[in-house]
Amino acid sequence: MNINNLIKTLTIEEKIGQLLQIAPFFFIQELEKEVSGNITDLGLTASKIFKAGSVLGIGNATEMIQVQKRYLEKSRHKIPLIFMADIIHGYQTIFPIPLALSTSWNPSLFHTMAKVSALEASTAGIHVTFAPMVDITRDPRWGRVVEGLGEDPYLNRIMTAQMVKGFQGDDLKKVGHLASCVKHFAAYGAVEAGRDYNTVDMSRTRLFNEYMQGYHAAIQAGARMIMTSFNVVDGVPATVNKHLLRTVLRETWKFDGVTISDYDSLHQIIEHGVAENDSEAAILGIKAGLDIEMASICYVNYLKTHIESGKVDMALLDEAVYRVLKLKDDLGLFEDPYKGASTLREQALVRCEDHLQKAKEAALESAVLLTNDGILPLSKNKKIGIIGPYAKTKQTNGPWSWHGRNDLNQTLEDSLKHLGVDILYVSDQKVESYTDEEINVLKQMDLLILALGENERESGEAHNRSDIKLPRHQEEYVSFAKRIMKPSIVVLYHGRPLDLTNILSANAILDAYFLGSMANQAIAELLTGIHNPSGKLTMTYPKSIGQVPLYYNHLNTGRPKVKGIDNEFTGYYLDIDNEPLFPFGHGLSYASFFYGQMRLDRHDLHFHETLKIEVDVTNTSEIDGHEIVQLYMRDLAASISRPVKELKGFQKHWIKSKETITYSFQLTPDDLGFSDEQGHLIIEPGRFQIMVGKDSEHVQSEIIRLHEEVKS
Ligand code: BGC
Repeated sequence: MNINNLIKTLTIEEKIGQLLQIAPFFFIQELEKEVSGNITDLGLTASKIFKAGSVLGIGNATEMIQVQKRYLEKSRHKIPLIFMADIIHGYQTIFPIPLALSTSWNPSLFHTMAKVSALEASTAGIHVTFAPMVDITRDPRWGRVVEGLGEDPYLNRIMTAQMVKGFQGDDLKKVGHLASCVKHFAAYGAVEAGRDYNTVDMSRTRLFNEYMQGYHAAIQAGARMIMTSFNVVDGVPATVNKHLLRTVLRETWKFDGVTISDYDSLHQIIEHGVAENDSEAAILGIKAGLDIEMASICYVNYLKTHIESGKVDMALLDEAVYRVLKLKDDLGLFEDPYKGASTLREQALVRCEDHLQKAKEAALESAVLLTNDGILPLSKNKKIGIIGPYAKTKQTNGPWSWHGRNDLNQTLEDSLKHLGVDILYVSDQKVESYTDEEINVLKQMDLLILALGENERESGEAHNRSDIKLPRHQEEYVSFAKRIMKPSIVVLYHGRPLDLTNILSANAILDAYFLGSMANQAIAELLTGIHNPSGKLTMTYPKSIGQVPLYYNHLNTGRPKVKGIDNEFTGYYLDIDNEPLFPFGHGLSYASFFYGQMRLDRHDLHFHETLKIEVDVTNTSEIDGHEIVQLYMRDLAASISRPVKELKGFQKHWIKSKETITYSFQLTPDDLGFSDEQGHLIIEPGRFQIMVGKDSEHVQSEIIRLHEEVKS
């Protein structure tokens, strides 16, 4: 397809139309259910609607075919619509929420999740997914931590790349692949006070070293689109931020894909106070390099006038339209506008046995055993009661799974019974409402499983919390179990790190987040020891909301508080210490692992050399299991202050009982570098601390020196 020639055949209105994204019900009124928000009252005329370039959200193949058909009948140019949707952690086979999946530290699961999601979503004729969401998240109050990959830039990069590759496959033209739209560019995860859409303000040093890494990794992995964020960066809304969209994205990163606003975010720059009206917003958007406008109408209503009056150069419009049409061409839509949409493929693929099995395998690796006094795995022939608000729950899909169906999921009771466990009592009523008779029944149990947490609406977009304790007095279930002298195992369903300080007296806590379609089957196999938990936290769990933001890879202060040393003029609180409840990287197993002495192949590193680090880990228990070993480093003196620890590698191996495995890592001088304010790599010689351990707090360390580069 010669896209430049095609552009020449379009009227100015038709070109502008390619930059408009609206919901399917604009084309077919009955489809109104799919999108909420102010898009319904945009006041668009039919002439404008049937020039739109893309669609936001679609339910299934039948709907897609209907919309595309109607559009192609009515449009003059017959350029197919492109269908985009939020396929975040599954289409109908729902995988664990991204935050949970990240605790697997298994990048291949991200690839599998994305591949399965793409296969299923493509049956509905979806061509682009608004994923991965790679915003670094360090504030558990923010509801969207559920969609992210945690607090660490390195882990974020590795998982992001796998997701993009999984969605896109080797050839976008083939049926079954989706183009990936990475979001939200940039730094959306740093919203002040954890309140969604709020202000972001940070130095460019921090921006490039921490927050930009995921977006860049996605683009390097080939992501074809990028979505701007709702927040400001350097005081300018990201949606019209020239520095982000032109300097960083186009010039530095050489991105030639499509940019898209977030929902209505171009119009919202009026609320930000950087445009008087939609007309000004249109100028700012196109000049900044924003291609598609999602769910608002600044371009469609005003760009034509601005081009005709000479305020906006036609070349800017043409370049944006070129990118959109190129994507349509690369996706094969000119050959087949209905690409992928097929009720037959839908029946064969969607929620098929193989996909559900894969979702279960992912779930098995995505739960974190936070505490365990030995009560887990469950021993045989115990009489068990399940109580707590989620005792009967099937709501395990979690936020951003709107094609998925919770009603098809299994309860924990059924999943455990299926494995032969004696579940004798199940109740989701409140502690205070137990009758004496019910309490007597519970007293007959050998142990209680407490199904606690947050509901699906307590995290996700706009669903922030100012307190991260268990909501609705659920801590009472733990004290109740103590009161009636029953051992208790907490199973936590939730979407964000929680303050669990008041439930530590439970005998075990299994952190199960929202593990998707096969959540309870996986939880049952983990509780019974059919599978051994192996997840490790990717966000720090604080002891109190007052410590937030609390993350392992922070900078030092000039007056750091040293644990155990009394020194008044250091950085600490009068009423709580600085330590987390559970550190980044923490997670238990039913097996126990012994770490040998770490070995470095050199302590002096020169440019063009590689440092090799090894550690032997022995499974000293009778149970086989995975162990994730983490490699950290610290640059001890650089031209800018560097974090006290930075993850630089990890490996997850299966270690059989009594077996020893050698974990080997490699670091090059590049890995020891950091970014300057423009995102360029700086490598400075000097001393570096190299650390290896089971989590970010328990590490062994050695010092190496990177020597000056010898110029020849
Ligand atoms: C969210 C995006 C999402 C878009 C389309 C917005 O409100 O911030 O993440 O992709 O809606 O559904």
